[in-house]
Amino acid sequence: MGIGTHTLMQIQSRGKSVPSLPASRGWPAEAVAVVARFRVAFRREPDALAYAPGRIELIGNHTDYNGGPVIGVAIDRGTWVAVAAREDGRACLSSTQTGAVAVEVPAIGAKLRRQTGGRAWANYPLGVVDALEAFDLRGPPGFDYLVTGDLPLGSGLSSSAAIEVASALCFLQLTRQRCSRVRLAQLGQRAENHFVGVPCGILDQGVSVFGRAGHAVWIDCTRLKFQPLRLPAGVQFRVFNTHTRHALVDGLYAQRHRECRQAAERLGVRVLADVTPAALDRHEHRLTAVQRARARHVVSEIARVQAAAKAMRAGDARSLGRLLLQSHASSRDLFENSTAELDFLVEKLTALPGVLGARLTGGGFGGAVMALTDSSFSPDAAARLQREYAARLGGRLESMALAAGGGATPVNPGAKA
Ligand code: GLA
Repeated sequence: MGIGTHTLMQIQSRGKSVPSLPASRGWPAEAVAVVARFRVAFRREPDALAYAPGRIELIGNHTDYNGGPVIGVAIDRGTWVAVAAREDGRACLSSTQTGAVAVEVPAIGAKLRRQTGGRAWANYPLGVVDALEAFDLRGPPGFDYLVTGDLPLGSGLSSSAAIEVASALCFLQLTRQRCSRVRLAQLGQRAENHFVGVPCGILDQGVSVFGRAGHAVWIDCTRLKFQPLRLPAGVQFRVFNTHTRHALVDGLYAQRHRECRQAAERLGVRVLADVTPAALDRHEHRLTAVQRARARHVVSEIARVQAAAKAMRAGDARSLGRLLLQSHASSRDLFENSTAELDFLVEKLTALPGVLGARLTGGGFGGAVMALTDSSFSPDAAARLQREYAARLGGRLESMALAAGGGATPVNPGAKA
């Protein structure tokens, strides 16, 4: 994200200071940029500001809505939202994302309508307004809203959860309400499930809320417990975004969700996390071939997440890397949510020096591959892979070096002078 035309000093000298954030994280400059952009869009100052990061799914593919554990990493890129109250009951939403059309609608929950086409991005903040009311919290009566950030959209880094979480933090600030961090993650998930219409689990929003620099976030999706897990010393992350997305990706995600639920029903359990590998062996004759494959993936992936947490506690990066590769193979063969592009990348990465493991990250059916590397992995190797990918598959492969960053945070507008 650029710093925009105003510096922190200029804004402070006009009696409007941006909130105090740790300078070491570089956030003040970003906060300044958001304030500057908000002014350009609305010709006024924001009353509330918040930041929420994107995430890498480290391991635990489609385990979250099956009640299992999952491990994610909040990254050092994210989304900023700025909001100001309006007295006329209207919601005016604007995004700096290319192709996003500004939206103006009544802000009262009961009248909120799902947006389509170039306005569809607004479903994330509007879904949060809707979720606030469903959770007995007050939605803002009217507001001006701007979202910006440095998280590439549709790259498998969960920009949608970052928008939801940052929006929720701003709306809570604006209405002077508080909620727990678990509730905050649930607000984002509820927006996604009930307004956007994707039956996702809590991974993306949970990691965005509970992220911590240098750590991953371990989530028990049944008990809704979130714990930081220290990353093994010296590991780094590379994400390769294929910019491919299956045309039916949301439908395919929902279909996998349904197949898992049906498998659980036939096995007589609430969720697949309640099935042990031995019980699945005994009872899998009750399942169709497809349900069997989906259940085998989920049950074995849960065991891999547990093994990964153990490896991380022991600082064992090599074992963690091997588990990532096994996870990818299971997604590819049993859950069938990989693609030729993602498989190509995982195969090539496996052979490169310094790569400890690689796998598809997120929902699948396109999107991104993450690689866990040690410090011997060279940027040149990543550049060669980009060239080879373009030559073999004819597409643009984006390569991003990412670090584990902090979680979502409101930025106190009370810091204004
Ligand atoms: C998407 C969803 C998550 C999770 C992953 C797959 O990122 O939003 O809830 O289900 O896919 O693990």
